[in-house]
Amino acid sequence: MASFFHHLFCFLLLQLPLFISAQTYNNITLGTSISNLQENPYWTSPSGDFAFGFYPHQNLFLLATWYSKIPVRTVVWTANDGKPVERGAKIELTSNGVLSLTTSNGTEIWKDEAIDNSQVAYAAILDTGNFVLSTAESEFVWATFENPTDTILPNQILDFSKQTDTKLSSRVTEDDYTIGKFELELQSDGNLVFYTIARPTQSRNEPYWASNTVNNGTQLVFNQTGYIYLTLRSGGIRSLSSERPVSTEEYYQRATLDYDGVFRQYTYPKSSPRNGWPESWSTSWSLPQDICASSFGGVGSGVCGFNSYCRRDVEQRPECLCPPGYIFIDPGNTFKGCKPNFTQQVCEADESRIVDGFEMQELSNTDWPFADYEWFNNSVNQDWCEETCLKDCFCAAAISRGGSDCWLKKFPLSRGFMNPSSDRIALIKVGNSSAEGNSSDRFPPTTVYNGNNEEKRNWILLGSSLLAISFALNLSLLIYSACYKKQTKTQTATRSFGPNLRSFTYNELDEATDGFKEQLGMGAFSTVYKGVLKSDTGCLVAVKRLDKVVQGNDKEFQAEVSAIGKTNHKNLVQLLGFCNEEAHRLLVYEFMVNGSLENFLFGSSKLDWKKRIQIVFGIARGLAYLHEDCSSQIIHCDIKPQNILLDESYVARISDFGLAKLLKSDQTRTTTGIRGTRGYVAPEWFRNMPITAKVDVYSFGIMLLEIICCRKNVEADVGDEDIEILSDMAYECYEQKALYLLVADDEEAKNDGKSLESMIMVALWCIQEDPILRPTMKKVTQMLEGVVEVSIPPSPNPSSFSNISPIG
Ligand SMILES: *[C@@H]1O[C@H](CO)[C@@H](O)[C@H](O)[C@H]1NC(C)=O
Ligand SMILES: *[C@@H]1O[C@H](CO)[C@@H](O)[C@H](O)[C@H]1NC(C)=O
Ligand SMILES: *[C@@H]1O[C@H](CO)[C@@H](O)[C@H](O)[C@H]1NC(C)=O
Ligand SMILES: *[C@@H]1O[C@H](CO)[C@@H](O)[C@H](O)[C@H]1NC(C)=O
Ligand SMILES: *[C@@H]1O[C@H](CO)[C@@H](O)[C@H](O)[C@H]1NC(C)=O
Ligand SMILES: *[C@@H]1O[C@H](CO)[C@@H](O)[C@H](O)[C@H]1NC(C)=O
Ligand SMILES: *[C@@H]1O[C@H](CO)[C@@H](O)[C@H](O)[C@H]1NC(C)=O
Ligand SMILES: *[C@@H]1O[C@H](CO)[C@@H](O)[C@H](O)[C@H]1NC(C)=O
Ligand SMILES: *[C@@H]1O[C@H](CO)[C@@H](O)[C@H](O)[C@H]1NC(C)=O
Ligand SMILES: *[C@@H]1O[C@H](CO)[C@@H](O)[C@H](O)[C@H]1NC(C)=O
Repeated sequence: MASFFHHLFCFLLLQLPLFISAQTYNNITLGTSISNLQENPYWTSPSGDFAFGFYPHQNLFLLATWYSKIPVRTVVWTANDGKPVERGAKIELTSNGVLSLTTSNGTEIWKDEAIDNSQVAYAAILDTGNFVLSTAESEFVWATFENPTDTILPNQILDFSKQTDTKLSSRVTEDDYTIGKFELELQSDGNLVFYTIARPTQSRNEPYWASNTVNNGTQLVFNQTGYIYLTLRSGGIRSLSSERPVSTEEYYQRATLDYDGVFRQYTYPKSSPRNGWPESWSTSWSLPQDICASSFGGVGSGVCGFNSYCRRDVEQRPECLCPPGYIFIDPGNTFKGCKPNFTQQVCEADESRIVDGFEMQELSNTDWPFADYEWFNNSVNQDWCEETCLKDCFCAAAISRGGSDCWLKKFPLSRGFMNPSSDRIALIKVGNSSAEGNSSDRFPPTTVYNGNNEEKRNWILLGSSLLAISFALNLSLLIYSACYKKQTKTQTATRSFGPNLRSFTYNELDEATDGFKEQLGMGAFSTVYKGVLKSDTGCLVAVKRLDKVVQGNDKEFQAEVSAIGKTNHKNLVQLLGFCNEEAHRLLVYEFMVNGSLENFLFGSSKLDWKKRIQIVFGIARGLAYLHEDCSSQIIHCDIKPQNILLDESYVARISDFGLAKLLKSDQTRTTTGIRGTRGYVAPEWFRNMPITAKVDVYSFGIMLLEIICCRKNVEADVGDEDIEILSDMAYECYEQKALYLLVADDEEAKNDGKSLESMIMVALWCIQEDPILRPTMKKVTQMLEGVVEVSIPPSPNPSSFSNISPIG
């Protein structure tokens, strides 16, 4: 909600100047100029969708084209290699037909690269986003569409036969528009390739993706209906994605070679959806599928910098992380690589001396395949591997596999990535000087959220006092940059939590909970207590005491806890630490002030419709992350409203994930081994079927219905003979087009018929009896966001499984 208003607020402020002086600059005549000191230093396309001119950026200006109607302003083209200019700069279409950018002292720093400017009669920013220099006969002498930067738009074609640029270059970071290291090029041989560049030269590394259309590809087309494909010499086309794009009538679209090297097609609604403007563009598809695991050839750092490793997050975006003992070279740009936060080993003849002060730390499922200098393949185990690397001053890390192989890796570690299905264990050599972290680093969630609140407050203050003054140009710029900064801040904030888990003694936790005094909740296998960590300036925590953990399996406990500790997503309750002392098994989590979702659905104070929708989105994203993006897949097995907690801003946070494994003695399910809670468990638990992440999708579907309708799936009210089961009712109402019956006394929901219908449809897909028909959680998030269409769901309980395909 807050974010909705935030965006609306930004949006209104930004739009006002535009409405007041709504001029349609169809033709920019020779001799026209704009200075970034003037009001509205840009030209807008006739529809107002695009603007071309000075775009405020970090107190400077970019000469750029951007989407100007939506709250998430988005630059799609920049001049001057993305380098910003200072106040006083001017852009002019000279009387000679040259588009020229000059600084305040009159020095020209950029101009168009048209071959013959004398033909130019006028310039224009078109509704497609193309800025053109045109002859009187409307032939384009120069166009931004033929000189792209990192983005292409619908109607744009890269065609090497036209002697124009057929290359996209990524920017350095989200916020730094200058040229980064990734390029996409439609080569003159017809092959579309993505590769990295060894900056500062133009030297190319081997492609990390190629269309393999040598002597065949002719153009890269982004057509009017949103399809992106290569046209082939042999006739026909080669689509870059099998996804059917959403309508270009209703959605803005763009495809960008992002700063992380991934080429993505994005969509954003053209008009404000009922739930408010989305915070960012949605990704419809991306290439390559898994950039972390892509091959970059023999040299270069790959996607992340040297000494780091790559892991995919919930949106499948690569994130770069430092191995234990290493820190980012530039915390502002995590793609730059890491450095050891300790003094490196010095080679000496006496190897017993060099190991002093060094130890090996484990990082599972990770490898740096391109840093080998030694390979032992004669049944050497992990301990041997550790020992050997520790004593070898050339060794930066070792990789152990299945007690048989050991690879020694040299510095710098390159192109590392975490692959959940890998059987390799990385052993990192670390100096003990950095092994002890700073205790305040261990609780970043608290500091991050406090920071956010503060920022929000400042923001409102700033906004209201400024509102009172006037709508001068510099005001809108100021507001704009405030908006922009805030957005990027929140994005990075959720990424920065380290996998730092703290090990507590039982006494510490006994003290923190005042002798396990205040009970927050009780489950079948655990009890949760409120606690205060005195050592950490009174940080509130929830301490969960596990009662029925399999005893005597320390290593497994440690492994599971560390897997939980490595998760990091804004819709999950963060694990802060644990206690594993004698018979005691306790987990320490951040404290969620607003308790469980259950109280807000079935209790006296119900959450309003919009908040409930936001909560649904959050849960779906959190689950998608657990299923697809943590180092090893986590199936929750007990999704229900009691296990969704709400933080101080009512953001949904999934709790108790990862516990299913801790409580099971063996991984395989037996008939007696049903996990979960009656009413929410998927039918396959009762059948002889494998248990997959789809069990969570089922429980999510049931819970989604409960969130929509604010009632339990199975009411405990046993007095009534024919108890109405919500999930059965939902399908009946859906079939009879009477969904309003489900939300009888919720005016807001009834008035939002379209969202209501699509949410019910998603829920019906999720609770399909056949797990194969249920969508993945990722698909669920896309359906909820409206990025993919939701097709008509079949009855969740058909007499036998049919073979209807889930979506599209
Ligand atoms: C004009 O300003 C630029 C920086 O904006 C500076 O590099 C250049 O030397 C200046 N030229 C003159 C003639 O003052
Ligand atoms: C723009 O200028 C060209 C050439 O002078 C002219 O043909 C065209 O009609 C003008 N367009 C508008 C919308 O004024
Ligand atoms: C071009 O691509 C098409 C479709 O992939 C294929 O059928 C054809 O053989 C290719 N032609 C050449 C010359 O490679
Ligand atoms: C865009 O490409 C798709 C796939 O080839 C095609 O179905 C569609 O008709 C094209 N749209 C236009 C406007 O050409
Ligand atoms: C590091 O290890 C050395 C010897 O192994 C020890 O003397 C030193 O105290 C350790 N330093 C820290 C900070 O633990
Ligand atoms: C072990 O490595 C050597 C080369 O280092 C190779 O020739 C041999 O085939 C490998 N053995 C196995 C079992 O992989
Ligand atoms: C780096 O090492 C120092 C001490 O050697 C330690 O205080 C600091 O917390 C470490 N930084 C990180 C990010 O681990
Ligand atoms: C830990 O970090 C805090 C703030 O970041 C700093 O004030 C303190 O000096 C640090 N302590 C150590 C031991 O580095
Ligand atoms: C806004 O304009 C006023 C006067 O024109 C100036 O004093 C002030 O510094 C400007 N503010 C910004 C943020 O540029
Ligand atoms: C939810 O948390 C907010 C912020 O701490 C608090 O103001 C509000 O009273 C809480 N609501 C409930 C029902 O506890």
